[in-house]
Amino acid sequence: MTQSHSLLKSANFSNAKAALLKELISGSEKVSGIRPSTPETQEAYLKQIQTLGKDKGRESYYPYLASGLGSGPYVELMDGSVKMDLITGIGINFFGHSHPELISEMINGLGSDVMQGNLQPGYESQELIRAVLSKVGEKSRLKHGWLLCSGTMSNEIALKIIRQKKFPATKIFAFQDCFAGRSTAMQEITDNPKYREGQPTYGEVSYLPFYLPRLGLERSVELTVSHMQWEVDRHPGKFAGLMLEIVQGEGGFNSAPREYYVKLFEAAKKANLAIWADEIQTFGRTEQLFAYQMFGLEEYIDVVTIGKLLQACMTLYTEEFNPRPGLVAGTFSGSSVALKTGRRIVELLTEGGYYGKDGRIAKLSQRFMDHFKRMSEGSCKGIIGECRNIGGMVAFTPYSGTMDDIKKVLFKLFEAGVVAFYCGHGPYLIRLLPPLGVMTEKQVDEACAIIEKVLIASAPEVPTASGASAPVASVVMKGTQS
Ligand SMILES: Cc1ncc(COP(=O)(O)O)c(C=O)c1O
Repeated sequence: MTQSHSLLKSANFSNAKAALLKELISGSEKVSGIRPSTPETQEAYLKQIQTLGKDKGRESYYPYLASGLGSGPYVELMDGSVKMDLITGIGINFFGHSHPELISEMINGLGSDVMQGNLQPGYESQELIRAVLSKVGEKSRLKHGWLLCSGTMSNEIALKIIRQKKFPATKIFAFQDCFAGRSTAMQEITDNPKYREGQPTYGEVSYLPFYLPRLGLERSVELTVSHMQWEVDRHPGKFAGLMLEIVQGEGGFNSAPREYYVKLFEAAKKANLAIWADEIQTFGRTEQLFAYQMFGLEEYIDVVTIGKLLQACMTLYTEEFNPRPGLVAGTFSGSSVALKTGRRIVELLTEGGYYGKDGRIAKLSQRFMDHFKRMSEGSCKGIIGECRNIGGMVAFTPYSGTMDDIKKVLFKLFEAGVVAFYCGHGPYLIRLLPPLGVMTEKQVDEACAIIEKVLIASAPEVPTASGASAPVASVVMKGTQS
């Protein structure tokens, strides 16, 4: 046994850890419900936030600065107020705030260096890579994993290894409304010109139309595949891969039936394209650990990227795509504590009854949808539009779904103690990535009661031709689809 391991197992360490955990849990219990700030703390707090905005050169979206302490979905801010966090840092804190199991791993990380990298990895790197690779699924060909410090960087590595393998082909197919990150290459893949203002593009990306429910399966497949084939024929030997989010995140939680992906992937394989799934937002969060598992697509995936709730990021690839030395490296692969905690998160997720049609994630997700259905048929008739959910990805359109509607609702929710964000590209949706790893049914009810109250209180009145007021949205419920 190493000195480091005997230190972690020593009586002194165990006692100190137990005492620390006890203190943290007792602190955390004091943060177990929404509460407003006091007027005395407000002024200093807002100054602190202004200073942050000045230092960064841009104001924060919300007046949000956390103390770091929390409990389940609740998180304390620096003014002493407590919010219910339904967006979790855009998907990081799936196990909420101050989770005792994760704090315990953080304490275990004290025996390590702060950061580690590729040249001198610690055992935490090895354990995390192994933990993830052991869960890729029996039919999956994914064999290797590389640790990175951001989702964007994982996607960069995915692109590079695909290009190296498919040389001299370099071009990539991506999808309408997709998001891939903000580096020079990823902003070109991301289908949003606003995110690359003033930046060059290199003509390396062709966009495909995604599945459109209103067209149905057959016509959607035909549209996407014929578009892809047309581009491949126009640029023979130039396309290296097909990149997609199986469930689009920032694009608005869009997904397709399994058959759509199967037909698409078969056509892509025929065209000699690598299949690259960006699961940075979906990893851990759908009804299986990987969304490609939920949709039964294991055998098709050549490269996959993960991040966010793992507390670390990785590019996973098959043996065929293992790059030659020199292409992939980097100083940092993650903080020791994050890598250690990531391994524990994989264990918690896969051993905690989260997955499957009757798993915790599906049940809590359905509870959100049941509330939205109830509201859209009753108290919020005409003011909730489309509602979407796939596991821990839940979204709804308030009113007409304009950005003004969204902002109004988001800021009113924030005032009422609920933190959320948006997705979609018009109509926009309120995006929830709730901490389903720890949320209870009662807390889902609490969240929905606040949403209901805010939606009703902020609803615009839309005059009709006859002068009477009319509902502003038509309702479509779009649940888990596969
Ligand atoms: C699907 C997807 N890809 C890539 C990224 C970029 O990841 P990161 O912000 O960690 O660089 C994100 C982040 O939101 C994402 O949702």
